[in-house]
Amino acid sequence: MSTLQERIAAFYDFLWPFLEEEGTRYVYLDASPGGRPMSELLDAIPSRRGVGKGSRVVDVGCGKGRQVVALARRLEGHVVGVDPLEQNLSLAAERARREGVEGRVSFARGGIERLPLETSSVDFVWCLDMLNHAEDLEGAMKECARVLRPGGSMMNCSALATELLEPREAERVTWRLGLNPATLSRERMSAACAAAGLRIVEFGTTTDEGSPYLEELDEGMARHALRLAKVRRARKQMESRLGADALDVLCAYDEWNIFLLLGKVTYGVWVLERAG
Ligand SMILES: C[S@@+](CC[C@H](N)C(=O)[O-])C[C@H]1O[C@@H](n2cnc3c(N)ncnc32)[C@H](O)[C@@H]1O
Repeated sequence: MSTLQERIAAFYDFLWPFLEEEGTRYVYLDASPGGRPMSELLDAIPSRRGVGKGSRVVDVGCGKGRQVVALARRLEGHVVGVDPLEQNLSLAAERARREGVEGRVSFARGGIERLPLETSSVDFVWCLDMLNHAEDLEGAMKECARVLRPGGSMMNCSALATELLEPREAERVTWRLGLNPATLSRERMSAACAAAGLRIVEFGTTTDEGSPYLEELDEGMARHALRLAKVRRARKQMESRLGADALDVLCAYDEWNIFLLLGKVTYGVWVLERAG
């Protein structure tokens, strides 16, 4: 056990010489630890699972259709975009038209709790950054398994809490973002997959060293920290322009991104298979 004096000495023994040479001898500390953009990492999954021409894919929680269009282009199959919000579906359909893939996509309103699709009707379920909104995780996974044909696959990419995330932080931020904190547990996810008859073929996170899904650190993430710092210093000024509620949502969104940056939250990527 070290004494306080010993720890103070150790701290300054390191700090003073480090600061002297921070910009020269230690520049390697600022180098990228590697990784690729998340989109590239995920894009390779469907073809790896045999999805291609003639396949039918569902993008659950398709939002404004970014992935629907990209999947239709890349895989040359038919992609169904599903989202509970009408305004998202309109924007997604408009995007598909603009990008010339309207013949290979369709849209249906619905949620993961009850997908507007026939049983065993799709080859691949694509679920990107959506599952944390699910109220009933187990039911959601069962519903995905229901629409998959036997032997079909699913990609889920959703957030997980790490041991660094404190319960009060989780509560504060998930509330504002409409996320179900129960979905942030890896154990809970694994149990839900098993209960739905979905075998985990691959799992990795986007932040763990050595993970096949290691994501590139984006300098834009620092913007969230800076903006939050500005809100803390000039809240009234910002509130008068944006409104108190919107500012609270923005702060939760920025804080969530800082949690990601700090490794309090990470993205888990699951490749799942429905038993044949
Ligand atoms: C963070 S956005 C992700 C959009 C899209 N997947 C992407 O990566 O660009 C989450 C989406 O999930 C949708 N969503 C929320 N609750 C849902 C539910 N119960 N079932 C399906 N989608 C849901 C939202 O409307 C929103 O479009």
